[in-house]
Amino acid sequence: MRIDIITLFPELLSSPFEASILKRAISSGKAAVHFHDLRAYSTHKQKQVDDYPFGGGAGMVMMVEPIDRCISQLKAERAYDAVIYLTPDGETLNQKIANHYSTLEHIILLCGHYKGVDQRVRDHLITHELSIGDFVLSGGELAAAVFCDSIIRLIPGVLGDESSALTDSFQDGLLAPPIYTRPAEYKDWTVPDILLSGNTPRVEQWREEKALERTQKLRPDLLQ
Ligand code: ADE
Repeated sequence: MRIDIITLFPELLSSPFEASILKRAISSGKAAVHFHDLRAYSTHKQKQVDDYPFGGGAGMVMMVEPIDRCISQLKAERAYDAVIYLTPDGETLNQKIANHYSTLEHIILLCGHYKGVDQRVRDHLITHELSIGDFVLSGGELAAAVFCDSIIRLIPGVLGDESSALTDSFQDGLLAPPIYTRPAEYKDWTVPDILLSGNTPRVEQWREEKALERTQKLRPDLLQ
């Protein structure tokens, strides 16, 4: 998978890709992430990329031309499966959506800033709009990082244990069951006996019960 991220603040985006699972996915060639500084596509001498809204009002609007130039250049190099705008009024990201995007080959992410982008960008260049939740961030960069993490970890071979993405919370519509590790005895904080029993089928059954119990208690909406 190749992800091209168009941003006004590339420096906001680098560190999530420089550690842990995302770093490994990139160094093993399973994912490639490229940042494109929108200012480099400005035709103004001051590298301007935003302007006042027509009709007045507060806040600046990201201009159509630099975004079009950047996306057009990328599209001239390869075909893209999706051009995604990160915005609080997009479709809310969930595991099912992440699963879908993790199967794509080439995607472009556009990070918004200020009041957002000129509507013509959304009408003519963007194919999908995604939000990471009902709250407003200062820009789309952190949302893009969250989205990239959620999809890159699902690419086959990225997680060490192939099965572990399948047992994530939400992957089967339920929250994950509680997990424990050594030591079995710590203060008087106990580990459920069943997990120490070595009886795999019973452990599996216990996990299913706990996943359901937890979901009923914490996220009953997932069961409706
Ligand atoms: N940009 C600003 N807020 C956002 C959000 N919640 N999701 C995606 N992009 C955003």
